[in-house]
Amino acid sequence: MTGRFASGLPAGNTTEPRIPIGILLHYGLCCERSRGRSKEDSVNDWRRDVRAYDDVLEQLGDANSRRLIPTPALACDLALLQSNIERMADRALEAGVHLRPHVKSHKSAFIARRQLAAGAVGLAFAKLGEAEAVVERLNASGDPSSVSVLLTSPLVGRHAAERAAALASRCDLVVVVDHVDGVDELEAAALTVGSTMSVLCDVDVGLGRTGVRGPDAALAVAERINVASRLQFKGVQGYGGHLQHIPGREHRRTATIESTKRLTGVVDTLEAAGFHVAIRSGGGTGTMGLDVEIGVLNELQTGSYVFMDREYRDALGEDLEGRFAQSLTLITTVISANHEGYVTVDAGLKAMATDAGVPVVVGHEDTASYQFFGDEQGMVTNPAGHPFRRGDRLELVPPHCDPTVDRYDVIWLVHDDVVVDVIDVTARGRSQ
Ligand SMILES: Cc1ncc(COP(=O)(O)O)c(C=O)c1O
Repeated sequence: MTGRFASGLPAGNTTEPRIPIGILLHYGLCCERSRGRSKEDSVNDWRRDVRAYDDVLEQLGDANSRRLIPTPALACDLALLQSNIERMADRALEAGVHLRPHVKSHKSAFIARRQLAAGAVGLAFAKLGEAEAVVERLNASGDPSSVSVLLTSPLVGRHAAERAAALASRCDLVVVVDHVDGVDELEAAALTVGSTMSVLCDVDVGLGRTGVRGPDAALAVAERINVASRLQFKGVQGYGGHLQHIPGREHRRTATIESTKRLTGVVDTLEAAGFHVAIRSGGGTGTMGLDVEIGVLNELQTGSYVFMDREYRDALGEDLEGRFAQSLTLITTVISANHEGYVTVDAGLKAMATDAGVPVVVGHEDTASYQFFGDEQGMVTNPAGHPFRRGDRLELVPPHCDPTVDRYDVIWLVHDDVVVDVIDVTARGRSQ
């Protein structure tokens, strides 16, 4: 592509300020910290190479601007991202279920806004801090209606409950609970703060991480919610994290059917006791097609589909659930090429999550391989006859997208060799 970016592709920040707020915040932070220090100190103080970033920002939309991105960095193909967002929204619409995308995967207000625009009924968050950061941004940019927010992890303790109660006055909040004490904490906080919350009973469908372990415990939770004046029982959550990466659709289907029976058992008991189980939320990218076929969930919490990652690609292959594009890559630079068989790149253990193995090298999937080579370095083998050279830039498909994204301040939105825009990872590090 040559010349200024001028195709029909949607510009990155149609509703955001021209320079995204994240960038401005960082500039602000830099000025704040630099007071009383030398220029050199303030630049060293900062997390990023300011001049390199300015270079890219000045050339947004220009041919070859992708080559200017300081590495290691995350790049996301905007057109692929948008098609993933729309594909998932269409799937949910066709199946007659609600879509509540999980923000834990991207932590970005910009992407969340696009998911809502594509028809999502609301957003799911793992942590209070994530939700606070993104809701603040959505509210600041004047989104008209109060966004529906589901916190998918149980909260413990007075402080967390009071933060949730405060958040409930800034959005339409739904929380999950897996113990009667959690209900009491939320009720007390809601009374103190003067807000109201909707509550789902979190059900353990076999992952064993959180959730009540059966119908009796679920009934106890629902009954406690029923007598709370500030809480409203809305339904159940059953997330099968253990199912998502089972390779082979038939194996995944068998396991998902088994797991869903646990949720059905709880729903039946609650309904027999007179509770209206309006929301049955759960599912992930790996099971979403199966979840709608099974027909118990009426709300999907899929997250990773926006980017996909190597782990999901390996597990899902061409299955229906795998038909989302790999939109996210990690750009890295060859920093040393003094050996015959391999080069050293600037993306090591700190540049990506390491729980799911190694990344693949885009364009060299079968001819080159990556190994971790230190905290800050990686080793990439040279394809036969075509050694990489010092200064070359390679792109990697991250092994596991969610915890990789959390390591970066920004994501560069790209199309071919053009940087279209840059967005901040709004809830980066907000793990409390
Ligand atoms: C509770 C919950 N719901 C939904 C998801 C989204 O799953 P995925 O990223 O596999 O689509 C996750 C991911 O870890 C999760 O923890």
